[in-house]
Amino acid sequence: MIVLGIESSCDETAAAVVVDGRTVRSSVVASQYELHEMYGGVVPEIASRAHEECILRVIDEAIDRAGITREMIEAIAVGHRPGLIGSLLVGLSGAKAMSWALGVPLVGVDHVQAHLWAGALDRSMPAYPALGLVISGGHSSIYSLKSATELSRLGATIDDAVGEAFDKVAAILGLGHPGGPRVDAAGGGLGADDRAFDFPVSRLGKESLDFSFSGLKTAVLYTVKGRPTPPRVAGKPVLEVAKPEPMTPERVRDVAASFQRAVERAVLLKLERALEQTGAKQSLIVGGGVAANSRLRGALEEFADKKGLELVIPEMKYCIDNAAMIAGLGYELYKSGRVDDLTLCAVPTTGC
Ligand code: KG4
Ligand code: ZN
Repeated sequence: MIVLGIESSCDETAAAVVVDGRTVRSSVVASQYELHEMYGGVVPEIASRAHEECILRVIDEAIDRAGITREMIEAIAVGHRPGLIGSLLVGLSGAKAMSWALGVPLVGVDHVQAHLWAGALDRSMPAYPALGLVISGGHSSIYSLKSATELSRLGATIDDAVGEAFDKVAAILGLGHPGGPRVDAAGGGLGADDRAFDFPVSRLGKESLDFSFSGLKTAVLYTVKGRPTPPRVAGKPVLEVAKPEPMTPERVRDVAASFQRAVERAVLLKLERALEQTGAKQSLIVGGGVAANSRLRGALEEFADKKGLELVIPEMKYCIDNAAMIAGLGYELYKSGRVDDLTLCAVPTTGC
């Protein structure tokens, strides 16, 4: 079955053609990095306008590259939640128009759930039951999966998503946008000391499977910019900033490395707890932009190995937002009976 996937939830306009859920015939991603770089983050209004300008070109290119004609498409899958509402609406409108014009089914896909399918693209079927980990710019969650389409959330971040922490730490260190890959490169450099700074790992009690990354981010901020001390004169809100050490390239490298060590410890701690609490699993399925992080990839491999789990982690190109994961999961959902009509709505939050 040939499925066209469309994705426009944040700052990537993407379309892909996937056969039978796993064989990727084409995956086109138009990124908007340069448009948002000067703002240090994604500006929603700019993002939706940029989607609108390139969505038709991106869809046409995905169809061309797949070597098919429009008439060969058998279903349209679209990421309709979660995301920036204006951005989602562009992809959703395109998907509805194509579904109506071609007379083929429309399937709405949850973007977060689709990240957990990205590791199956161009690979064999993952083994279930599985433990799922989504680490992206908007989400940090752990799931228990019975199948690709049946999952329940075990925990999520109570403040910042892990990718958000990477992006903010990059900004604090003056590394620019997009932050994740730059912190990855800075902290992975030769001679980096990941124990130079003892950054906190949030546990949230003995049982919790939730994450918290805001304390870690603040600890990095204080290390780099200095720690504000309480005002000496009551009623006068003057903050004294303890003078930080100058940020040499070596110090930047060591802060980046120590931050990543803390992230790794936080992620592994919660995965360990999740396994203890939910019992035996066949695989560990990971997805989301932060799954591209070199240090985490190595750590997750080691963890899965130790626990006797098959690690299902996407190829680098399927870690960040793409439409192949949407088309792929769309196919699985369609097989399980899901079909939407033209009343399908864009929703800002995830349903899983
Ligand atoms: O999944 P994604 O493309 O978008 C969301 O659904 O949020 O994830 C984007 C996030 C950004 O925060 C980006 O900085 C982070 O993934 N990221 C990385 C790396 N590559 C992308 N974080 C750490 N290391 C990387 N190599
Ligand atoms: Zn994403």
